[in-house]
Amino acid sequence: MATTTPVSERIRVEVQLEPSHREADLAELRATLMESPRRIPSKYFYDQQGSALFEQITELPEYYLARTERSLLESIADEVAARTGAEELVELGAGAATKTRILLDAMSRQGNLRLYVPFDVSESEVRRVAEELTREYDELFVHGMVADFTHHLDEIPPGDPRLVILLGSTIGNYRPEEAVELLQGVCDPMAAGDFFLLGVDLVKDVERLEAAYNDSAGITAEFNRNILRVVNRLAEADFRPESYRHVAFFDRENSWIEISLAAETDQPVRLEALDLTLSIEAEEKIHTEISSKYDRPMVEEMLVASGFRLAEWYTDPDRLFALALARKSG
Ligand code: SAH
Ligand code: AVI
Repeated sequence: MATTTPVSERIRVEVQLEPSHREADLAELRATLMESPRRIPSKYFYDQQGSALFEQITELPEYYLARTERSLLESIADEVAARTGAEELVELGAGAATKTRILLDAMSRQGNLRLYVPFDVSESEVRRVAEELTREYDELFVHGMVADFTHHLDEIPPGDPRLVILLGSTIGNYRPEEAVELLQGVCDPMAAGDFFLLGVDLVKDVERLEAAYNDSAGITAEFNRNILRVVNRLAEADFRPESYRHVAFFDRENSWIEISLAAETDQPVRLEALDLTLSIEAEEKIHTEISSKYDRPMVEEMLVASGFRLAEWYTDPDRLFALALARKSG
């Protein structure tokens, strides 16, 4: 009789984000807050509340990205599973892993599925996803990694033929040179038989792009302001989130949505852990995020600069979103 390995024996969660990183995080925060314009790194969006707000964003009528990527994935998952022959799925920035099951199911139909590696800075999300998926998939092993994909990619243990995925256009939250650095970090440790699947949002009419980041329910504004609460905890600071206005517009020249928080009034902010006081002026913007919008040549160029070659380009009928399947070049 076939036996099932108990759930507890199929889960492992590794935490790479140690308290010692706090010092590095604080030093980075000091530097970005002193830039002109001031900036807060977007990884700070994703505490438990920020991750929950992001999940709400993905369900907003204006936020076409998530549902378009999901239906595109549904239409290509079997082909991708067959073509890659992957036994392991490594998901960078996995978050709530809502689209992951589409690929896990396709890999399972191929009879290959063995291991899932959710990799995310959000410990609560990694632990929740690991519990849920080991319960849902009888023989699946989950090796969760609570880690930063700009630092810890080489900590992913080597394994069987794998598909590495970075969905949701998360790559778009990095400036072009940072994105290439990140993707080089993905490519370097990959074996010749591994594949990489990258989700990217495409350039389209400005109204549609801007509406996705200025939803009528105000959830994106709340998500944006939440970053100040995270910084308040990290740096023992006294930002007043309610006194900042959410600003998001499409910058055509850079091909990205630029997202910031504009101070409603002059306000001093004390960051005790940095022994720093900022004088924020009325209407001064603190930059919190960019969200790049691509076309195929831009994606191909970014992949090639990172050591990949494009194997397949998938897009939906309305060309809103694309999934690029890539392999290590050479
Ligand atoms: N892949 C999911 C979630 C996208 S939201 C989807 O497509 O819906 C972006 C995710 O990336 C969040 O879960 C966030 O916690 C994670 N993230 C952001 N910066 C990160 C970093 N530097 N290292 C690891 N994960 C990061
Ligand atoms: C996670 N990332 C790809 C989202 C995006 O669309 O750039 C984050 C987001 N910011 C505001 N809304 C959604």
